[in-house]
Amino acid sequence: MSQLVDTPITGRISPMPPQGAARYWFRVTTFQQERVPVPAQALALGAGVRQYRSPEGGLDGAVPWPMSLRRFVWRACYGALAKRVSTPDWAFMNYGYAPASLDVGAPPLNSSDEPDRLCIQLYLHAIGGFDLANRDVLEVGSGRGGGASFISRYLQPRSMTGMDFSPEAVELCNQHRLVPGLAFVCGDALSMPFAASSFDAVVNIESSHCYESMDTFLSEVFRVLRPGGRFFFADLRSVDGVYNLREQFNACGLTVEKETDITTNVLTALQLDNARKLDLIDAFIPRVFHRPFRVFAGIAGTRNYARLESGKLRYLSAQLAKGSPAQT
Ligand SMILES: C[S@@+](CC[C@H](N)C(=O)[O-])C[C@H]1O[C@@H](n2cnc3c(N)ncnc32)[C@H](O)[C@@H]1O
Repeated sequence: MSQLVDTPITGRISPMPPQGAARYWFRVTTFQQERVPVPAQALALGAGVRQYRSPEGGLDGAVPWPMSLRRFVWRACYGALAKRVSTPDWAFMNYGYAPASLDVGAPPLNSSDEPDRLCIQLYLHAIGGFDLANRDVLEVGSGRGGGASFISRYLQPRSMTGMDFSPEAVELCNQHRLVPGLAFVCGDALSMPFAASSFDAVVNIESSHCYESMDTFLSEVFRVLRPGGRFFFADLRSVDGVYNLREQFNACGLTVEKETDITTNVLTALQLDNARKLDLIDAFIPRVFHRPFRVFAGIAGTRNYARLESGKLRYLSAQLAKGSPAQT
């Protein structure tokens, strides 16, 4: 059966099965780590722009990326996903977090939030019990809005802003995640549309691996945080990427208060959530994209899962403060 899908590299409609640019989409969206050929049309798009060499911010150590190509591909992929799968029932896009013992610290959730427990627990783990009540909170890379909605409904911030660079994802959230004090805006992590010192906390869950420059992102976090504000982070990195990330944290002007390797907790969550994620993929994703999507979703036995299992990919969480702990 032939289906029509947007191909993020070209923005055109192409017949499937995927070839050329669409095959490249598969590789890009599944955190490809080996060197891959960049198709001619993609190079043309990036012509004249600076070459990007990860692993500054990402997972793809060997791939020389034109700067704007990386951003373009991720935005097109997340935009296509929000547009084509507009159901509000799919609220999260992270790998989840399972505490070491499942019955320790399991937060009470409404029955409608129970299916997303593991994804919610990744947010709770990253925030680490910090009191967000009456604070102005920003989530960068808010995706389908489940995390920002959860924080808004359960943690009583004064205001909660979800920001994502995909207009389609922001539109989906503004249609479906209607909570008092919660708003979603379109914006780039590397150039945020907010005045300096606008927020008490910035949350960033499984999004930073998409960014062209982690240093620029961290300088933006520093800028938009108020003195004493906190940055809550969770994401994947290659082994080299972990080393770079630590250097970036140490150089960004924020104080690292906590840093934890949660690879085991994330792997356990992936195992526990495997069947549900397979059901979501079967229900919402066109069959021709099932394979790359399973990798993207960390389904057991696929590449990202195997790399987490072998230790080639690590999952880190961190809490940083603007100002030394004594001052805040
Ligand atoms: C894997 S999803 C995670 C979404 C959400 N945090 C969650 O846990 O469900 C990554 C999100 O980051 C967003 N993103 C990637 N690069 C971005 C950028 N430069 N600026 C803002 N958002 C970005 C994507 O559009 C996507 O929604």
